[in-house]
Amino acid sequence: MIYQVYLQSFADGNADGVGDVAGLRSRIGYLSGLGIDAVWITPWFRSPLRDAGYDVADYRAIHPRYGSVDEGRELIDECHAAGIRVILDIVPNHTSSDHPWFAAALNSPPGSAERARYHVRAGRDDGTSPPNDWLSVFGGPAWTRVDDGEWYLHLFDSSQPDLNWDSAEVRSEFEDILRFWFDLGVDGFRIDVATALVKAPGLPDLGYPDGAFLADLTRADHPHRDRDEVHEIYRDWRKLADSYDPPRMFAAEAWLDDPDRLSRYVRPDELHTTLNLYYLKSAWTADGMRRAIDASIAATSGVGAPTTWALSNHDVERVVTRYGRDDTRRRPGVSGPELGPVDERLGRRRARAAALLTLALPGSVYVYQGDELGLADAHVPEQARQDPIWIRSRGRRWGRDGARVPLPWTPDGGSFGFGDDGAWLPQPPGWGAHAVSSQAGDDSSFLELYRSALSLRRAHPALGGTGEVRWCEAPRDDVLVFTRDPGFGCVVNFGPAPAPIPLDGRVVLVSDHGTGEGEVPAHGAVWLDLRPEDRA
Ligand code: NOJ
Repeated sequence: MIYQVYLQSFADGNADGVGDVAGLRSRIGYLSGLGIDAVWITPWFRSPLRDAGYDVADYRAIHPRYGSVDEGRELIDECHAAGIRVILDIVPNHTSSDHPWFAAALNSPPGSAERARYHVRAGRDDGTSPPNDWLSVFGGPAWTRVDDGEWYLHLFDSSQPDLNWDSAEVRSEFEDILRFWFDLGVDGFRIDVATALVKAPGLPDLGYPDGAFLADLTRADHPHRDRDEVHEIYRDWRKLADSYDPPRMFAAEAWLDDPDRLSRYVRPDELHTTLNLYYLKSAWTADGMRRAIDASIAATSGVGAPTTWALSNHDVERVVTRYGRDDTRRRPGVSGPELGPVDERLGRRRARAAALLTLALPGSVYVYQGDELGLADAHVPEQARQDPIWIRSRGRRWGRDGARVPLPWTPDGGSFGFGDDGAWLPQPPGWGAHAVSSQAGDDSSFLELYRSALSLRRAHPALGGTGEVRWCEAPRDDVLVFTRDPGFGCVVNFGPAPAPIPLDGRVVLVSDHGTGEGEVPAHGAVWLDLRPEDRA
């Protein structure tokens, strides 16, 4: 299980209201007690933080707000001593506009080698319109004009200029950055927007009406997503990772709806895993989840790679919130009240069942910090919002701040134990009710459900690793039943009424108590040990 640490919201070690390396180091005990295998730390590099660090100004330095490279090295060593591997986040599609390369590009004339590291070119209509019709994922055009009249491309915020991966210099620079961190002991990287690095020659128009590209990244010959040439880059990176002992690993962030296209990133000579965003987006229905599971396993096993699973991350609504709605699909571009009301009690029940479903599947599971506490999205007042999505869409899209609010560690205190002096995003009243220390030791809590599931996942020979999911006949359409060898069963009830357990075995974990024996609770799940008692 890989635990996603959103560093600025995990734990604050120096009382400035922002999470940091010192805070993370002070909580390694919590992470090993949870039973995780690895941490993925979101970007900690030097950055003006216009997109929470996904705008990097120096890839070989840790932002002083978070710590120093020396502290980073100590963290890595301490994690390793606790049996936890460390995965960082590399951002190769774009730099920050504060990166020295971009400053050099702006200070150099059109056509210069400095500009060739980015996509900078003349506009249309005598230079007054952007060079093509591409839009920023965060809203508005994907082009910004510079003083001498040329335009630069940014698929995200204007502070995130896209690099030109046709440049040999860009390629060798990133290999060097990877080496820098691998040499320091880092075990792997999550690759940000892994599908976008290569653009079509000539940067042709997309030809879609406003915003539609967000919904269709799988169209054939898309000019800035999933181009065949991107795989060459990852083949080179794989060789680099394999030159280390032990070999280092990669996980691609790839928002592709087509599991087969996704599986191309994890062919034997490319990346090791992709983050399974297809599973994350699916509706919480028996049909929807089964389809997502089958398609994901089929796609990755076709190329001999393990599957991964995630229910949420720092870019989407928390799972309790999404599952508390009538429509439980992730709906990109729709936000706030447009999504409809949330029943958090229902969302929590479903999220507990989803945790058991997910942790029972073969492959690796990514858990976003706070999901193990059952946190819902927090309401962040308008004046406190920081996400560039909120800013660039001029308040039309709410952005992702609600899922990024600092964690509650204790039931009270200035920032509920997050640090000594407030929190960079306001924590809502009542946040302390979900605190780690309040949940620890309470068998009915979210945290203890996660701990139990993770410890069983390590102990039971059928769980984790590879292996098949064998679907069994279910008592109703809104129930899923599967077994894994040897001797494990999982029953998930998506419906509002308890359902009979159709497997013969001992219940070892149940998502919610209070249901009759032999039943799986409404909106719930159970794990069963199907081995004869003397072999369990
Ligand atoms: C994906 C990251 O997860 C997200 O937080 C970021 O805004 C974009 N990539 C741009 O780097």
